[in-house]
Amino acid sequence: QLIDPVKVRLSSVRISVIGCGYLGAVHAACMASLGHQVIGLDVDEAKVASLNSGVPPFYEPGFAELLDEQLAGGRLEFTTDPGRIAQAQIHFIAVGTPQLAGRYAADLSYVRAAVQTLIENVDTSKGPAVIAGKSTVPVGTARHIQDLCDESGNDLIVVWNPEFLREGFAVTDTVHPDRIVYGLPDDPDRAEVGRKVLDECYAELLATGIPRLLTNHPTAELVKVAANSFLATKISFINAMAQLCDATGGDVTQLAEAIGYDDRIGKKFLRAGVGFGGGCLPKDIRAFMARAGELGVDEALTFLREVDAINLRQRDKAVEMASNLLGGRFVGHKVAVLGAAFKPNSDDLRDSPALEVAQQIWSRGADLVITDPAAADALRSKLPNLNVVDTVAEAVAGADVVLLLTEWQEYRDLDPRELRALVRTPNIVDGRNVLDPQRWADAGWTYRGMGRLAGPAAARAQV
Ligand code: UDX
Repeated sequence: QLIDPVKVRLSSVRISVIGCGYLGAVHAACMASLGHQVIGLDVDEAKVASLNSGVPPFYEPGFAELLDEQLAGGRLEFTTDPGRIAQAQIHFIAVGTPQLAGRYAADLSYVRAAVQTLIENVDTSKGPAVIAGKSTVPVGTARHIQDLCDESGNDLIVVWNPEFLREGFAVTDTVHPDRIVYGLPDDPDRAEVGRKVLDECYAELLATGIPRLLTNHPTAELVKVAANSFLATKISFINAMAQLCDATGGDVTQLAEAIGYDDRIGKKFLRAGVGFGGGCLPKDIRAFMARAGELGVDEALTFLREVDAINLRQRDKAVEMASNLLGGRFVGHKVAVLGAAFKPNSDDLRDSPALEVAQQIWSRGADLVITDPAAADALRSKLPNLNVVDTVAEAVAGADVVLLLTEWQEYRDLDPRELRALVRTPNIVDGRNVLDPQRWADAGWTYRGMGRLAGPAAARAQV
């Protein structure tokens, strides 16, 4: 049900945000910027101290400025003291739901802990409070949380309000979302209170015409995983086409552009390469398959297994491309990897294709050097055995093959002639298809893209 924008008088709402990672910290600061009084709660003392001093514990463009501004404005604060959330009218749950070790299913222990904290600390003696779930959870979780709240005797109304923000665009996506979804409780009176309270919270956004959809709990939970599954499927589809292009001499970037002109297909999320990673897409499709299994409808999502498999094969493919350029042996060769984060404008290394490719090559005996504009420090502490350097020049010095695996702008802008002078052998694997093959070939490089040949001449030669 699509509702017209509601003109609600903007009033300040008291908000708590439980879990202050990428999602929660950004959400807290953005809600403060809408004029609300916000308290962010996290169990990690170092994170809370860092946020309170205006230093983001992660890399996210625009967030440091916003954080500074909102802390100075006095509407935003972070704490480890759960007692401080007692009086909030809305409690956003923004904790992580990572993949369980050795299983496809999501780890809900942080969600359970957040709900327990709420039950023990909220004060609903003067009226109901709303729990707004932002975390990506298996369908059925919201109703379960509502039951737990009811059993506790607190007057808590659970609304599932999924978040669709992308890392690297977290601030913009939070204040300019494509849509806002409220998954409301079945009880109509509670649903009405939940809707009103969230409308007040998002009044400024709704007034700009952002579509707001009212659904029940399971639909809202499914919207989130369905959206991520669709995006993952789109990427794996184009990567499957890349394999066909490789086998036939086609160029997947031209293919993607050509099919993308059809509005029904669209050009976005059709960039072939080493595939998707990060803290959301891979674990969300796996958790979705696991949940479908529990619900007895696993066949409906069997295709996601193939989506996952295609995605992981792209990583192996990049390794093989580099190996082939080196005559089948990594031992005795220097390999330079540009990019470690799962995507540009992020320092997130979770399930990063770039990092996995680098680790595979390293474990096969290469003298591997890796660099990343934002993730280098995180990489050093996570994997002290890897040789991490700060600049491209250091990374490629004397290299026998260079792999571009995260498409940071500064890597896209590299000058092939300047780089040619630094390497030992001019071999480049463009794992994100962002370089101009002809330009690199003209500068003397042997270019390999994913589903892409080195320029039109090479493409013709295959026919
Ligand atoms: C994703 C969803 O986009 C977002 O809506 C949701 O809330 C969380 O999960 P995020 O993980 O930040 O966001 O990254 P996204 O921009 O979606 O990229 C995911 C991965 O797909 C990255 O590794 C990226 O490099 C890769 N990708 C993306 C491709 O390989 N090809 C593409 O065409 C697009």
